[in-house]
This record gives sequence, structure tokens and C-alpha cells, in this order.
Amino acid sequence: MTSKKKKQEAEAAAQVAVQASPELDVEELEGVGRVTGARLKERGYYTVHDVAFASVKELAEILGNEERAQQIINAARKMLGLNAFITALEVYDRRKKVRRISTGIKALDELLGGGIETKAVTEIAGEFGSGKTQLCHQLAVMVQLPEDRGGLNAKAIYIDTENTFRPERIVQIAKARGLDPDEALRNILYARAYSSDHQMLLVEQAKSMVKRQGASLLIVDCVIAHFRAEYPGRENLAERQQKLNKHVADLLRIADAYDVAVVITNQVMAQPDVFFGNPLRPAGGNILAHGATYRIWLRKSKENIRIAKIFDSPYHPEGEVSFRITEEGLVD
Ligand code: GTP
Ligand code: MG
Repeated sequence: MTSKKKKQEAEAAAQVAVQASPELDVEELEGVGRVTGARLKERGYYTVHDVAFASVKELAEILGNEERAQQIINAARKMLGLNAFITALEVYDRRKKVRRISTGIKALDELLGGGIETKAVTEIAGEFGSGKTQLCHQLAVMVQLPEDRGGLNAKAIYIDTENTFRPERIVQIAKARGLDPDEALRNILYARAYSSDHQMLLVEQAKSMVKRQGASLLIVDCVIAHFRAEYPGRENLAERQQKLNKHVADLLRIADAYDVAVVITNQVMAQPDVFFGNPLRPAGGNILAHGATYRIWLRKSKENIRIAKIFDSPYHPEGEVSFRITEEGLVD
């Protein structure tokens, strides 16, 4: 083939890439026939878009072969124009499309630059009773509000690992925000996770629910409890971290691919070897430190007052804000 012809073909391919719709059926992909298509769909990969954001390992498990998985992922990315470099201006335009959910606490929203973001994983860490679960409840309501009131007019998916979800609390918070409580409850899709494997399976299911149900918020409260309980001690640490890594990568992919805000809560643990400064640090080590896009630290103050700060963030100013836990939810 002459180089001119090659160039023309490449240009034509690029044109297709721009035009291809992310909603295209997986069977439209080169190298995916009926049988493979059906197998992929069975596991939640319905569209070219789903495949483009999959990991090689995951697809290899379905297809039985890593090389094939890589080829199909590449084909999907190429079709959607995800394989190439883009200009900083395009990055900037994409950033502007990020949507935000208000926390319902003005000072905290300001600290966060408007609220928690879609296309990102926000971690809430803190001691027991610091308000992590309360903030999750509040966000599950806030996301339902119309956009001019800080919401996204969307549903929430709530994965509860510790059995601390309280619909009564949703009713209180919804009423305080002027929402019909029954409607607010209907808009939260709830699942209890009984083990780390179950938790990961639920996240996989959530992936295919997000679009179908119109959810813009995915909560996992608490992300690490099962992992810590099932893989105790140093001897299990490597295995635990490996599994947790996959879990966090799954969550990040869902956030990015489906324009969803993912919120996870994390426990803190004491570091025995710290003599100066804060002896507490979030559990999960590097995996969570690098996996979470934003990290919020909650701390108890007197009675129902709590203090929030953002840590580890290159984009946010250091600073603390306080809020109160009340009957009506979390308020300034
Ligand atoms: P762990 O999951 O145990 O690590 O803690 P957490 O950080 O999730 O704490 P959670 O969000 O459950 O916060 C519990 C705090 O909220 C407690 O101090 C409760 O007293 C307070 N709280 C819960 N419900 C209400 C309420 O209806 N009114 C008031 N005023 N406080 C409440
Ligand atoms: Mg909790």
C-alpha cells in the first residue's frame, strides 16, 4: 500500500472514530461475533463503550485469552477515539463537563469547589461516629434534587457493607429538603454486601444499572471493612491489596465511563510508630491513597459538631470546615 493511501485510510478511520456512538452494540466490534457478543453481554458488557473501559484481565476471563481481550479493547477504544492524544483544551472542555453534587453543607461545598464530582472517586475517611455514614445518607438525598438546588435530578445506588443504612434517616433528610419521602426512598437502589466478593459483584451489577436506572451517585459504605476482616494480618496483606486494587480500579472506571460520582467510606487506624503529628491514618494503604481522586477526612468535635478537611489533594486548598449533625441531616 502506498503511504498516501495509508494516510487516507487512517484519516477515514479517524473520521469513523469521531462518529462512532458509545452506545453501539458490542457485536459491532471487529472480531466480536454473535457467540462472543452474547458471552460479553451476559457479564454486563453491552456496548462498545463498556468494552473500551474494561480491563484486559476481566475480558480475558470471559474470552479465555489475554491477547484476544487486548485486541477487542483496542478496537473499542479506537472506535471511540480514545486511543489518541488530545489537546489540553479538550482536557479543559472535558473538565468543564464534570458535574457536582452539593453536600448540603455550604462550607464543605466551597472547600470542594462546588460539591462532590462525577467522574471521580471521593473517599470519606474518619473514626467511628465521625459522620461518614451520615454524609452518605445526605448525598443519597442531595443527588435527587434539581440542578439549581445542588442535585443532579438523579438516583443513587447504595452498597452497604456494615448494615448501617437507615431509611428512616433518608425520610428525615428528604423532608427537610422538601422532597417527598417515599419518592426519595424509591430513588435509592440499595444492596447489602455480605463479603468482599459479594461487594465486588454488586459493583459489577451497579455498572449496568447506572445507565438503565439513571443513577449519578454510587456509594460504597464502607469500602474496606470486609477486606480487612477476611484478610487479617501481614501474611494476607498482599492478597488483600491485590483484590482491593481491582475493586478500586472498577469503581474508578465506572465513575469515568458513566459520568457518575463514586463515594466510598474508609476506616482509620492507629499507627503505632508515630510520635509526632496525627497517629491516625486511613486504612487501605497506597491502594486507596492513589485510587481515590479526592479524600475527605472527618473528625469528631464536641457533641454533634464535626470537622471536615480535604487531604492529599493537589487541587484543593488546605482548610477545615465544621458542620453539625442534626435531625434534618448535616448542616453548616
Ligand atoms: P462508623 O461507621 O462506625 O465508622 O462511623 P461513621 O463515621 O459512619 O459515623 P455515622 O455517620 O454513623 O455517625 C454517627 C453519628 O451521627 C453519631 O454521633 C450519631 O449520634 C449521629 N446521628 C445519627 N443520627 C442522628 C440524628 O438523627 N440526629 C442527630 N443529632 N445525630 C445523629
Ligand atoms: Mg458508618
